Amino acid sequence: MKIRDTTMILFVNIFIIGCGNSTSSSMGNQNMTDMNENQKSNIPYLKQNHAKYKQHGSMLTPVSVKDENKKSINWTISATSEEGAMKLQEHLYFMENKLNSDQNPRAFDTLFLMEAYMKYNRYYTTLVERSGTDIVVSKNAKTMCAYKVISAHSDAVSGDFFAQGNIMKNYSSIAEEILASKDCDNERASLQRYISERKKGRM
Ligand code: HEM
Repeated sequence: MKIRDTTMILFVNIFIIGCGNSTSSSMGNQNMTDMNENQKSNIPYLKQNHAKYKQHGSMLTPVSVKDENKKSINWTISATSEEGAMKLQEHLYFMENKLNSDQNPRAFDTLFLMEAYMKYNRYYTTLVERSGTDIVVSKNAKTMCAYKVISAHSDAVSGDFFAQGNIMKNYSSIAEEILASKDCDNERASLQRYISERKKGRM
């Protein structure tokens, strides 16, 4: 076998191994990024400690106070520790930044896609205030469509996340019903385009 051939074989091998490595290392990097993001969102902490958050002034699971006329959703949550309150506050700032920078947490879930669309297009605002172990969250929507979306999200947060630490449900069917309702006649076309462009499979 001529030297040129052996060199070629050697070169090809280095290249494949290199690629192999680079492909697997980029996969590795992506997983690391996802894990870091997950940590920074405090979702693992909130899931683990979901029972350590109470409706202010009671031992009950936190529930939001809804006013459909004002299109507002308000929460007053008491954590059992200052650390718990800070972790929830950090979660809200992390998610607010994600949505304001046009990103899509939980991109497999149509409800979270619709909430991201509403936030980025300023169809609702979120105000977060913490004092000691108490967190107050005020969300105000401009349209009934946006209100129905944040209302459905708050039901998930109360009934599944806080009540059971269950983050495995997919709320897409609830979101599809809202999207099909007359409340979303004006936004439906652009919402459907947004969802078809952004929806991902579940990891
Ligand atoms: C499954 C993973 C989760 C994702 C992707 C997620 C994402 C979000 C997003 C996008 C918001 C809205 C932020 C805004 O409107 O500015 C939010 C709000 C909130 N999240 Fe999470 N979250 C997750 C898990 C949890 C868990 C496990 C808890 C608590 C146990 C929690 C508690 C809250 C609360 C209290 C709010 C504010 C109230 C509301 O938006 O109605 N989240 N989260």
